[in-house]
Amino acid sequence: MRELTPGQLADLLDLAGELKARRQAGYSDLPLKGKVLGMIFEKNSTRTRVSFETGMLQLGGSAIFLSGQDTQLGRGEPISDTAQVLSEYVDGLMIRTHEHKRAQALAENASVPVINGLTDLEHPCQALADLLTIKEIKGELNGLKLAYIGDGNNVAHSLLIAGALAGMQVSCAVPPGYEPNKEVVEAARKIAQGTGAQVDILNDPLEAAKNADVIYCDVWTSMGQELENEKRLKDFAAYQVNEKLAAYAKQDYLFMHCLPAHRGEEVTASIIDSEHSVVIKQAGNRLHAQKALLVDLMATAR
Ligand code: CP
Ligand code: NVA
Repeated sequence: MRELTPGQLADLLDLAGELKARRQAGYSDLPLKGKVLGMIFEKNSTRTRVSFETGMLQLGGSAIFLSGQDTQLGRGEPISDTAQVLSEYVDGLMIRTHEHKRAQALAENASVPVINGLTDLEHPCQALADLLTIKEIKGELNGLKLAYIGDGNNVAHSLLIAGALAGMQVSCAVPPGYEPNKEVVEAARKIAQGTGAQVDILNDPLEAAKNADVIYCDVWTSMGQELENEKRLKDFAAYQVNEKLAAYAKQDYLFMHCLPAHRGEEVTASIIDSEHSVVIKQAGNRLHAQKALLVDLMATAR
């Protein structure tokens, strides 16, 4: 997400909106005819896998699912060799993995575009879809307040950067010790200086939720942190998105969650299953946001 300028982000969201409208109007554009996306997954996925694969098919191309376990990556083949070899076959790569460094190593060694499909540090495709969803419903992004409640994790990081690029007010409320990465916060604040955005990192969830246009939360235990689950359940107990917290937001607030969700932990069923919740539309928009990214990166890549 940090590689985008505010203008590029706006263009991607516009393109996503156009592609979505054309698809819904029955047009079938094939700008990626004959192109292939290789998708490396070293963590589980439902939405990312299916939306990327469907997106490639809808654009006239195809996608290959490469599970970390079944490829030679699972037996220790270096990511640098893998990047070079796969670049001989495919026109683009997507990777979902643990260490962000691994995705960067793939990008540095590949000669085709590489998309981050989630690392421990960032989840930029999610943030693209999130902003597309907010823009569709609210009509604009600039000046809106997004309250992120919970863990200062990959989803929070990409939202901080994306929100800053879009001129939003992003208020992140996290338990002490679970703050977002300092470099990411600094980068978001630097971007905010140019866009008029505001970036606040707080410990008080009610303060963050006050007058929010969007309340956003994610799981308390991300993939790879399973051993910390018990401790996290306790540490995050006061950070549940429930009716008491939502009462602080604007009356027409949207509830968002990247999914998968745990009802009764980070959010109550009364909120995620309420009329404020846009989580299904948000998940659906992964398809359209990523199609814009794929066209942008791959239609001119070769
Ligand atoms: N939100 C998201 O990335 O979902 P998956 O883990 O199912 O891909
Ligand atoms: N923060 C979560 C997001 C899942 C889509 C994780 O990394 O597991």
